[in-house]
Amino acid sequence: MDLFSSLPLPALGNMSPAYRVVLLIVSTLLLAKILSTLFFKSARKKLPPKVRALPLIGGVRKFMKGPINMIREEYPRLGSVFTVKVLNRNITFLLGPEESVHFFKAPESEMSQQEVYQYNVPTFGPGVVFDVDYSVRMEQFRFFSESLRVSSLKSYVEHMVHEAENFFAKWGDEGEVDLKSELEHLIILTASRCLLGREVRDQLFQNVSDLFHDLDNGMLPISVLFPYLPIPAHKRRDKARKQLADIFAKIIQNRRASGKRETDMLQAFIDSKYRATGRSLTDYEITGLLIAALFAGQHTSSITSTWTGAYLLKHKQFLGPVLDEQRDVIKRHGDKLDYDVLGEMDVLYRSIKEALRLHPPLILLLRYTHKDFAVKTREGDEYTVPRGHIVATSPAFANRLPYIYRDPDNYDPDRFLPGREEDKVAGAFSYIAFGGGRHGCLGEPFAYLQIKTIWSHLFRNFELELVSPFPEIDWDAMVVGVKGKVMVRYKKRSLKSEE
Ligand code: HEM
Repeated sequence: MDLFSSLPLPALGNMSPAYRVVLLIVSTLLLAKILSTLFFKSARKKLPPKVRALPLIGGVRKFMKGPINMIREEYPRLGSVFTVKVLNRNITFLLGPEESVHFFKAPESEMSQQEVYQYNVPTFGPGVVFDVDYSVRMEQFRFFSESLRVSSLKSYVEHMVHEAENFFAKWGDEGEVDLKSELEHLIILTASRCLLGREVRDQLFQNVSDLFHDLDNGMLPISVLFPYLPIPAHKRRDKARKQLADIFAKIIQNRRASGKRETDMLQAFIDSKYRATGRSLTDYEITGLLIAALFAGQHTSSITSTWTGAYLLKHKQFLGPVLDEQRDVIKRHGDKLDYDVLGEMDVLYRSIKEALRLHPPLILLLRYTHKDFAVKTREGDEYTVPRGHIVATSPAFANRLPYIYRDPDNYDPDRFLPGREEDKVAGAFSYIAFGGGRHGCLGEPFAYLQIKTIWSHLFRNFELELVSPFPEIDWDAMVVGVKGKVMVRYKKRSLKSEE
């Protein structure tokens, strides 16, 4: 008995032998196809392992203990790719340079920021960044890039040096300060000068910085989930946003009317035009982009300046070479500090970069997936991350992976020296304090110039000693920084006159 005659299909019994053979071949092929599809589909569609947690709120509890704590617990159990369910959302972590390639490189149509960074909209204001289509956002990021070109950076450095000189002149000959709050203050002054412009820095500083303070305090962990919740902090935020728009509208009108040009980001935005339409930015958009720049650059830079100082003052073996480099640079250029001179400070650069490796202020980067994608772990496991998942990667965790960084928890700026270059051993995404790929930080050069200016000025002019215990990490902050005070004793000196 053949296969077909055993089937309860009367029509088949009447078929010619040739038909039967053809049908046999076709159905065998069909069966093979179905089986292979089923088999390979289940292999291809293997989902990432899930964090075990109680239903409904289990994932939230794990997540609320702090994402880095959760990652540290789950990574040894589940590996470098896993999913946690937080309320009705699946968040899939991609931890490691190989695993996060798609995260950083995928086009916006597959992996986007808009959904996950929506909570910024009430702060930056409508019509900018995460409130606009990708094509408009790309144009707005072009305005940022253009305002941070080398020619502009050169004039920003003049402002940075000027602000640092004035600020530290007030310290006097010796004393004790909380370095953290001092640097926060200096960075606000510098950012105001370089980004918001002369008018704000010279005339409206206190008023504008109070309003920024209200904006800042209006961005809470709860704001990420419910950005429009009518709580007092959000109401103050919205009021401050309106007042800032009024202040900037006046400044922009005055500048336009006087025809006078300044060297700051505000001027760059006033001069910018959308390529698609040829129109200039509205005053409201300019205000929004300036707020976005300040939010991107202010806490991140002041936190990094503080960690850099704390590490160098603690590890004298690394401070020595930094001071030697300052002496060398002074020999070549006197006490001049400008864009080119700062560019010669490689030891200082590595010291900042290492502080940032250990303490990236943005500990989680997020995207929303619009399309399933495959990810392969270092160990060779392959998973499919389904569309609709939020994907996350973590600079704070990935920057300390022991297969990339030797003694990853130790401060060692020499790990970036030629010959070691640990930040490159596993490809482009081995070091992600500034993100990378399509949305890598546009302000990185600005941040380094600012932090180098501060520390070369301080080391050239003061002997410094850390007098409080080495600081801990403030994991509760939105931009993760330094916990408590960082007390430093200072005494005036001049590296230049030592020569
Ligand atoms: C130490 C200081 C800084 C750190 C650690 C830092 C870190 C980062 C990171 C991790 C991202 C990527 C976010 C993501 O992928 O979701 C980013 C993006 C960005 N940063 Fe920074 N940043 C710093 C300073 C600055 C400054 C000073 C500015 C501007 C003046 C700035 C402007 C931007 C902008 C505009 C983006 C968005 C780029 C895009 O999405 O295409 N950042 N930054």
